[in-house]
Amino acid sequence: MTTKESKPEAAAETPKKEEDYKIELLPEDYPQYDLSFKLIFIGDSSVGKSCLTTKAVKNNFEEYYQATVGFEFLTFNMKVNDKVIKLQIWDTCGQEIYKSLISNFYRNSSLAVLVYAIDNKESFTHVENWLNDLKSQANDDVRIFLVGNKADLEEDRKVTKEEGEKYKLDQHLDLFMETSAKTGQNARNVLVEAAKILYNDYLKFDENANNKNDIPGKQKPKGTELIAKPKKAQGKKCC
Ligand code: GTP
Ligand code: MG
Repeated sequence: MTTKESKPEAAAETPKKEEDYKIELLPEDYPQYDLSFKLIFIGDSSVGKSCLTTKAVKNNFEEYYQATVGFEFLTFNMKVNDKVIKLQIWDTCGQEIYKSLISNFYRNSSLAVLVYAIDNKESFTHVENWLNDLKSQANDDVRIFLVGNKADLEEDRKVTKEEGEKYKLDQHLDLFMETSAKTGQNARNVLVEAAKILYNDYLKFDENANNKNDIPGKQKPKGTELIAKPKKAQGKKCC
C-alpha cells in the first residue's frame, strides 16, 4: 500500500469581486462549522433590531412590539466559499437602563450592527452615542455596519438615504444599508455581508500568519473566534 504525501493546503485568495464569493445558506441546526463570529445588534429601543434579526434568521415578522429584556441570542449558518461560518447574533435591548449590561457584550464582538429607524430622526441622532459607547468598549478592529431599518415606511421618512450614506463615509464605517424587517428588504443581506467581510478578515489574517512568520505584534484578529472543526455531516439546505 502506498500513501500519498500530503501537500500543505494553499491559502485561499482573498475574494476581490462579488462573483468571487459563493454563498450557501445552511439550516439553523447545521452541526459543524469552520469559523464562528460574534455579531451584536445595537440601537435605540423600537428601531426594529429584534424584528430584523428574526426576519433574517427565521423569516418571521411580528407587528406587535415586545421590548427585549437584556438580550436575545440567535445563530445563523452559511457557507462562504469553502468555509462554514456560524454567526452568533446578540440582539440587545435599546433601553437606557440596560446600557451598562449591553456594553459588556461589545467586547469580543467581531462586528456590530448599529440600527436606527428611517422614520425616527432621534434614533439616527443617537447613533453617535451608540458609536461612541461601542468604540470605547469594543476591540479596535471591530467591524461596524450602519443600518436604517423600516425602509417600508417611505411616507414617514425622516432620515434620507443620503444622510445614512454620508454618516457611514464620515465615520469610516464598513457598510450602510437600508432594510425592512416587514418586507424583508436586505434583512438577510446584512448577515451575508457580515459573513463576507469577516471571512475576508480571516483570510487576511491567515495569509499573514502563513507568509510572514513572527510579525511583531501580529495576533489573531481580536474578537474573532477562529475555530476549525472537521466536517462530519452533510447538512440539508435551508430556505
Ligand atoms: P427593543 O427591544 O426595545 O430595543 O426594540 P427593537 O429595536 O428590538 O424593536 P422591535 O424589533 O421590537 O420592533 C419595534 C416595533 O417596530 C414593532 O412594533 C415592530 O413590528 C416594528 N417594526 C420593526 N421593524 C419594522 C420594519 O422594518 N417596518 C415596520 N413598518 N415596522 C417595523
Ligand atoms: Mg428588541
